Amino acid sequence: MKKILVIHGPNLNLLGDRETNIYGKNTLEDINNMLKEEATSLKVEIIPFQSNHEGEIVQKIQDAKKDGISAILINPAAYTHTSVAIRDAISAIDIPIIEVHLSNIYAREEFRKISLISPVAAGVISGFGCQSYIFGLRAAAEIVKKA
Ligand code: DQA
Repeated sequence: MKKILVIHGPNLNLLGDRETNIYGKNTLEDINNMLKEEATSLKVEIIPFQSNHEGEIVQKIQDAKKDGISAILINPAAYTHTSVAIRDAISAIDIPIIEVHLSNIYAREEFRKISLISPVAAGVISGFGCQSYIFGLRAAAEIVKKA
């Protein structure tokens, strides 16, 4: 079965508690469980990973090839808007990446409208709450099956 790495960036461990008016009431565990269920029906395997540390995320991306990952679904959270290091790690590997956001980053503060990650992503899904992850997983599964 093809493996899809799911990277959750900083503060997403607080989902369910954090700004629920923006990010909803589902916890990260709820989202991972929804993704696992969807993965089963798509016949792919997901490997969820959350970190509040930029370097750990960079390392996980660098290790993706040796870990046998076929695609990456990433919500880079605040690093979306700041991290040249994560963008460069994505550019350095030959694995498709799909960027997802719970909120519509283009309908929020000016600083959130800029994603350093989007230009190196296969595509971006933003604004559908936890469904963004489900749509992203479907896109990732489609990409890996075609590859
Ligand atoms: C987010 C949007 C980011 O701007 C923010 O820093 C997050 C979450 C989202 O999923 O909507 O932490 O990536």
